[in-house]
Amino acid sequence: MPDLPLETSNIIFELRNVTHQFGSLAAVRDVTLQIRAGERVALVGPSGAGKSTLISLLNGTLSPSQGEVWVLGQHLARLSPRGLRHVQRQIGTIYQQFHLVNNLRVIHNVNAGHLGRWTFLKGVISLAWPLDVDTAAKALAQVGIPEKIYERTDRLSGGQQQRVAIARVLVQQPQAILADEPVSSLDPERSREIMSLLRDLSQTTGKTLVVSLHDIDLARSHCDRIVGLREGQVVFDRPADEVNETFIRALYKITA
Ligand SMILES: Nc1ncnc2c1ncn2[C@@H]1O[C@H](COP(=O)(O)OP(=O)(O)OP(=O)(O)O)[C@@H](O)[C@H]1O
Ligand SMILES: [Mg+2]
Repeated sequence: MPDLPLETSNIIFELRNVTHQFGSLAAVRDVTLQIRAGERVALVGPSGAGKSTLISLLNGTLSPSQGEVWVLGQHLARLSPRGLRHVQRQIGTIYQQFHLVNNLRVIHNVNAGHLGRWTFLKGVISLAWPLDVDTAAKALAQVGIPEKIYERTDRLSGGQQQRVAIARVLVQQPQAILADEPVSSLDPERSREIMSLLRDLSQTTGKTLVVSLHDIDLARSHCDRIVGLREGQVVFDRPADEVNETFIRALYKITA
């Protein structure tokens, strides 16, 4: 049988020799990385290692000082503003602090996931008169809080608010989900629940998941691949089940 052609089209994210400088500080240094469709990748490493910077490069919020960022086959630096927005709509991002509008009802925060596609007018009308209740209800059911749809967002617990943020990303229907420390504000039990939810959503929908985590055990139990970062560089990049204490101690420079 002839060799199968190399499958390259399923690369969702690719960094080619990417450096990102904040003034004289290189937060990300010469990083080369490929992430394929459906992979669940954890970014781990000490504070200041460059995890958040890397996530911002992957969703095009930051542009690299050197090197190339490719997302869904597009070189971001070569795209028009419209082309960049089009790619960015395919990438949903979740943050540690949820980034929700607290004094709005849950449905409005979930519907914000449509804003990249809806016209400005439709978005404004939706604030007074929620449009597309069905999609929001379905997303809230998927994240396990269907009964909260008309609740004010700031009356929800932290774990429930992170579920709202995930429902908003589901409504956006992205190809990939980026999550920057999505569980750092939550207690251990809620952290496991949210990580299981993200893993299950990624598994059932085939969406790529890239998540920065401080908890190595969660990274090992919920992701397939772990990238260890330190001082802006990749220290290791391995299947999760191969990342043992030796890797972790070296990453955090634990000598005792
Ligand atoms: N907007 C900024 N301006 C200047 N320096 C920045 C900026 N954002 C990050 N840095 C610096 O870049 C480096 C990497 O920061 P980054 O936030 O990516 O690290 P991190 O791995 O996400 O850390 P943490 O685990 O604390 O969230 C740090 O030294 C940080 O101080
Ligand atoms: Mg960070």
